[in-house]
Amino acid sequence: MEETGDKCDNCDHACNKENCKHHFEEEERDFTIDGMEEAELTQGQQDRLLEHSLDVLPSTHSHLLKFFMEGLLPQEAISWMLLLIYIYIYIYIYVWLNLYAPERKSQLFTESTIQSVVSDCMAEFKVIGVVGAGQMGSGIAQLAAVAGSDVWLLDKDAEALQGAKASISNSVQRFVSKGQLSKEVGIETLARLKYTSNLVDLQFADIVIEAIVESEDVKKKQFAELDKIVKRSAILASNTSSISITRLATATKRPHQVIGMHFMNPPPIMKLVEIIRGADTSDETFNATKSLAERFGKTVVCSKDYSGFIVNRILMPMINEAFHVLYTGVATEEDIDAGMKLGTNQPMGPLELADFIGLDVCLSVLKVLHAGLGDSKYAPCPLLVQYVDAGRVGRKRGIGVYNYHKSPKQSSRL
Ligand SMILES: NC(=O)c1ccc[n+]([C@@H]2O[C@H](COP(=O)([O-])OP(=O)(O)OC[C@H]3O[C@@H](n4cnc5c(N)ncnc54)[C@H](O)[C@@H]3O)[C@@H](O)[C@H]2O)c1
Repeated sequence: MEETGDKCDNCDHACNKENCKHHFEEEERDFTIDGMEEAELTQGQQDRLLEHSLDVLPSTHSHLLKFFMEGLLPQEAISWMLLLIYIYIYIYIYVWLNLYAPERKSQLFTESTIQSVVSDCMAEFKVIGVVGAGQMGSGIAQLAAVAGSDVWLLDKDAEALQGAKASISNSVQRFVSKGQLSKEVGIETLARLKYTSNLVDLQFADIVIEAIVESEDVKKKQFAELDKIVKRSAILASNTSSISITRLATATKRPHQVIGMHFMNPPPIMKLVEIIRGADTSDETFNATKSLAERFGKTVVCSKDYSGFIVNRILMPMINEAFHVLYTGVATEEDIDAGMKLGTNQPMGPLELADFIGLDVCLSVLKVLHAGLGDSKYAPCPLLVQYVDAGRVGRKRGIGVYNYHKSPKQSSRL
C-alpha cells in the first residue's frame, strides 16, 4: 500500500488511516503469533481481516480449478470424478447402514447374502466332502464322483478308508462291466475321489455329507468341528437315519445350512433320498440339496423333523417285531424272512435286511424312536440288543442273524 503522507492515528506510518494496512499487518502478526486471546481487535480490524481472508480464498479455488481443468487430461478428470462419486456412495451406504439401519445391515450381510451365495455355489457342487467311509459314506462318495464332483472321503480310521477305496473300485467296475457306466466315466470317477483323515482337506467343499456312527453326541461333535473348518457358504448335511436335524444344527453357527439327506443302502443303487428340514433350514439349502439328490438320479421325498422321519419310522418297528417273533420262538430266521419276502413281495426278509443295514444301526434308530416319540412300542427287542452286545452286527462284520462266512449263509442263533 502506498503511504499517503498523512500520519495514521493507529500507527507511526504515513498512511490513510481509513485503510491502514500497516496497522492491520501488525495486528495480524500479533493475532497469529500470540494467539487469539492476546489480539484485541476493533470491529473495523475484524472486518478488514475477514475481507483479507475472502480475498485469498478465490485465488486458492481458482488454482485448484486450474489444476483440474488444465493439468489433467479429460479422461483423468473423469476418472477422478468417478472415484470421488464412488467414495461418496461408499461413505453414504456405510454411514446409512451403521448409523441408521443396523438391522438392515445384519439382514443384508449375513442371512440373505450368504443364502444367495449358498444357492449360487450349490447349483454346481463342484467339491463334495463325505465324512465316514463305512458302507453309506463310501456309497455316497461314489455317487458324488459319478455325478462329476470332486470328492473328499474322510474317515478317522485308515483301515475304513482302505476298505472304502477297494469297495468303490469294485462297485464302479461292476457298473462298467454291466454297461451302466462307460469305461471313461469309470476311470474319471475313480480319479475324482480323494481319501483323507484330515478334516482340513474338506475346507473347500460346497457341501459335506456326514455318514458316521448313529450317535447324537458323536455327530454333534463332528458338526461343530466341520462348522469351524468348511467355508461359510457350505451346506452341512447328515445321512442320519433318525436323529433330529434341528438338534444337530445347534452344534453349528449355520443352522440355516444344516439339513438331513438320508440315502438308502446301498446308495449307488437305491432310488430314494429322504430330505429332512430342521427348524431353521433355509429354502435355499433345501432347494440346493434337493437338486443335488436329483442330479444323483434320485427321487426325493420330504419329511418333517421327527424321530425316524418316514422310512425308518415304519421300517424299524417291522424289523423289531421280526426279532420279537424270533425271540419268542414263533418261527426260525429263515421262515420269518421267507414269509415276509414271498408273502408281502419284499426283496429281502426283515432279518436279512437288518443284517444288511447293520444291527448296531437298527438298535440306535430304535433307541432314538423310543426316546423321541415316547412310546414303548419302539423299545428294542432284547434279542437285537444281545446280537449287538456280542459284536454280531451283520454283514459288515461277516456275522449277524446269519453267518456270512459260511456259504450258503446259515443262521447264527445266539
Ligand atoms: N446302514 C444303513 O443301511 C444306513 C442307511 C441309511 C442311513 N444310515 C446312516 O448312515 C450313517 C453311517 O452308517 P453306516 O452304516 O455307513 O455305518 P458304518 O459303521 O458302516 O460306518 C461308519 C464309519 O464312520 C466312521 N466314523 C465314526 N466316527 C467318526 C468320526 N468322528 N470321524 C470320522 N469318521 C468316523 C467309522 O470309522 C466308520 O468307518 C449312520 O448315521 C446311519 O444311521 C445307515
